[in-house]
Amino acid sequence: MKNTARILYPLAAVMFVVLLSLLTLLGQNAVFIFAVVIPYLALTSFFTGFIYRVVRWAQSPVPFNIPTTCGQEASLDWVKSDKIENPCCNWGTAGRMALEILLFRSLFRNSDMQQVGGQRLVYGGSRWLWLGGLAFHWSLLIILIRHLRFFTEPIFPPSLWISAVDGVLQLALPALFITDFIILTAVSYLFVRRLVSSRVSYISLASDYLALFLIMAVVVSGVLMRSVFKVDLVAVKELAISVITFRPAVPAGIGLPFYIHLLLVCTLIAYFPFSKMMHAAGILLSPTRNLKNDSRRVMRINPWNRPVRVHTYAQYEDEFRQPMIKAGIPIEMEKPPVEQ
Ligand code: HEM
Repeated sequence: MKNTARILYPLAAVMFVVLLSLLTLLGQNAVFIFAVVIPYLALTSFFTGFIYRVVRWAQSPVPFNIPTTCGQEASLDWVKSDKIENPCCNWGTAGRMALEILLFRSLFRNSDMQQVGGQRLVYGGSRWLWLGGLAFHWSLLIILIRHLRFFTEPIFPPSLWISAVDGVLQLALPALFITDFIILTAVSYLFVRRLVSSRVSYISLASDYLALFLIMAVVVSGVLMRSVFKVDLVAVKELAISVITFRPAVPAGIGLPFYIHLLLVCTLIAYFPFSKMMHAAGILLSPTRNLKNDSRRVMRINPWNRPVRVHTYAQYEDEFRQPMIKAGIPIEMEKPPVEQ
């Protein structure tokens, strides 16, 4: 597929989803489908797909330790080992996982190679992807925690605290949170990076752009809803609580901007288990991250080893001693020739 097609098809798909939400203008029955039926279908797809993939991964046998290590392994008492980068115990491994999940530790090590002045290759750290990725994921998490105000009554207190901190800029710009700025910048960077870097562009698939466009569309529709096309937030909360308590009731007059946002969110979460976004769960099951490095201390036998019929050299020589002697081939074990 050409590069432009890899971008245009996912873009068209996202625009189609936006246009589809115009059907909510047809009346209350159509609204019910978009406000209740589609969210339930999306959640079903999310949970069944997510569980199915995690169970499949968890069933994959991991007979050997294959930790990637970046520090001194624990060995002799007087050699200082790196307990996090090359963990030999469960606590060290938990520390490494925490650094990976919370701070994207291995992405921080990312390096890049450039050709300078003809033939000279220069290697250096490349931290922009780490920064962009970290900014994106943390903002997303904070936005989702803030959204808990729609699903909880009384409101989940951390959601209020985080909103208060995230909203300090609202004195100047009433409609925007800090994380809205950050996530928009970070997602734009992640997209532009795929366009401008020829190497990244070469390995980018339509599915990479689809996930990016969907996330971008969810964020932009949310920000627009907050700043330009206001919706009835009390009605949104009524709907959200009725749906999650399985007593669906759709208040009238929430407004099209909300249904655009909701349909985009539903598409995103329905697609999540079938996409690369599953790395969110995959990181926990990644053997190179979640196994301690005790491969030299603990003997592991491959459980799939079948009993193998071996034919040792001694047996070989016993079998072919006479022909070997006749052919002048030196033999190692002097045994009387076998009578034939
Ligand atoms: C993947 C999930 C979602 C993401 C990434 C997301 C993202 C956003 C963003 C970035 C905003 C801009 C304002 C803000 O930062 O709070 C927003 C606003 C909003 N979102 Fe979402 N959203 C998601 C799911 C939902 C769901 C499930 C609902 C349904 C209850 C919802 C309802 C709203 C509403 C009503 C606003 C406007 C808030 C206001 O005016 O203060 N969102 N969303």
